[in-house]
Amino acid sequence: MEQTNSIGIDRYAVFGNPIKHSRSPQIHTAFAAQTGQRLSYRTQLVELGGFASAAREFFDGGGKGLNITVPFKLDAFAFATELSGRAKRAGAVNTLAAQGDGSIYGDNTDGVGLVRDIEQNLAWEIAGKRLLLLGAGGAVRGILEPLLKRHPALVVVANRSVDKAQQLAREFADLGEVRGCSYEALVGNRYDLLINGTSAGLRGEMPPLPEDIIGDGCCCYDLTYGAAPTPFMRWAASEAAWAVADGLGMLVEQAAESFCIWRGVRPATRPVIEMLRASLVG
Ligand code: ATR
Repeated sequence: MEQTNSIGIDRYAVFGNPIKHSRSPQIHTAFAAQTGQRLSYRTQLVELGGFASAAREFFDGGGKGLNITVPFKLDAFAFATELSGRAKRAGAVNTLAAQGDGSIYGDNTDGVGLVRDIEQNLAWEIAGKRLLLLGAGGAVRGILEPLLKRHPALVVVANRSVDKAQQLAREFADLGEVRGCSYEALVGNRYDLLINGTSAGLRGEMPPLPEDIIGDGCCCYDLTYGAAPTPFMRWAASEAAWAVADGLGMLVEQAAESFCIWRGVRPATRPVIEMLRASLVG
């Protein structure tokens, strides 16, 4: 497929399966309009097992960059010919960029997007705080390095399968104080910032958290988002958390970081977050 049309608009896309509900075209089109960049951006449904051939076709046709979402972030990691340090740590890639020499650069902007949303948009603190991350899958792996780089006092990773949490803690131990444990082991401890990285909410479920883990002034963040508050957000509100947020800001911030990698320009995110929020509830 020809990827650069006759008037030379640079082409970008997001690959995933499913992909229909992706907000990325809306976000990147808004960034492009705001910064005066000429580009086009679309979704592409990729069949399972078909990532490498679809990506090869896209870049061979002159495509400039891709975002990658579920379930292809590991395939994108394998596809990249050059990787950023944070992508290596995350073991996953959500951004691919064609380089002038034909190589394909792979990066992971999810974690930095989360940190930007927490610190800059929400004005919550990470440095010196006690963090509790729920889940030990790809989502949590992707955010651990950027969080640890903000120097929290402690990061606890809790998961149903404890061995996965402990394994993650071992892998990131060189970056700070990280511990892996079960949900039951949280009893008697309190935290300043809770981040839900489980997929429990997709089935309307909640991780089995004990009572009294919400510390004074505790903030609660769900990496997912939707038109209505997630089960984790409803639980946090019922526990009288100081502040509660969903992952819409992270979605826009990770996109801004990808845009910056591709175009060398940083778009303003706040108007785009507001636009998306309005379109979600509207
Ligand atoms: P992702 O890439 O989105 O992180 P994943 O690798 O499949 O997806 O990980 C899903 C995470 O959600 C895991 O930590 C999983 O816990 P287990 O490893 O113990 O299975 C967690 N999870 C899913 N449903 C859950 C539920 N109902 N309660 C608690 N944790 C849940």
